[in-house]
Amino acid sequence: MALPEKNPAKPFVVDKNLGANLDWDAADLPKTNADGEPVVELTQEQKYLFDKGGWLLIPGVLKGDELEQMRDFGYRLKHRPESIPEHERSALGGPLQKLADHPLVIGFMNEFVTYPGLSNQSCYGFRMESCSLFYRTVGEGKFGPHNGNGLLRFPGDSHLYRCIPGKAHSGLTRVVWELNPVKKGQGGTLCITGSHKAVYTAPQGIMDPDSPLWDTYSCPAGSLLFFTEAITHSGTAWTNAENDRIAIFSCYNTVNSKWHNWDPHPKLLAAMPPKRQTLFRPVYVAGNLVGEAR
Ligand SMILES: [Fe+2]
Repeated sequence: MALPEKNPAKPFVVDKNLGANLDWDAADLPKTNADGEPVVELTQEQKYLFDKGGWLLIPGVLKGDELEQMRDFGYRLKHRPESIPEHERSALGGPLQKLADHPLVIGFMNEFVTYPGLSNQSCYGFRMESCSLFYRTVGEGKFGPHNGNGLLRFPGDSHLYRCIPGKAHSGLTRVVWELNPVKKGQGGTLCITGSHKAVYTAPQGIMDPDSPLWDTYSCPAGSLLFFTEAITHSGTAWTNAENDRIAIFSCYNTVNSKWHNWDPHPKLLAAMPPKRQTLFRPVYVAGNLVGEAR
């Protein structure tokens, strides 16, 4: 039996006023990123997998010289930070900056995080609210399970996940760029698949990092991992002696929410292309749109 590629019905998302359905035809989600590259929409399978599991791995996104330069920058940031101008001395500096609005990241956020009322072709409908380098050698990295049960949380702590037939919304959302290879069970992030929708408290077994309750991944250098912070997840000790972990961890959130107390260096922000700057605009809703509404 042939299945429809997409659900033909537009999901009913209650808009601001009087219970009306959000007008999907008026939604003006960015089609290009700040560098003019076309946004890459998620496939139906990717949307399904992320919603069902709470995390999604896209292997081998970055390659060649681009990946090499990013990895080198991460290495310098860890070992020779003084070789980098102060305002660029972060995981948002140098060649890493363009990861903030990589076409796949924008495609993902347009589906799962954006608020269409505050989005247009020059303004992202979501915010970026943290960006840091996780550099780990053998023995570094701690096991510390947290979050889960996001479906049942009230707004306020950002670790929520909401869904209706045909549409899902992730609150605080994590993006991880693995700039070096990750071997399964040797230090990649651990997730309990589906726990963003769990209705029970977590069982004691999750306190064992080797429990089959945990899922994890292997991936080549340059891979991209998304997970909702509403899922139960954890770091774990890096045991891969063949290479260090060089990962860029970022968080994105809705326009009206902020979990982390973090902002990019003002000089770095001021030098960004205008559309990328909208990732870091103030946290409020009414009128918080850069550029004209359609
Ligand atoms: Fe977390």
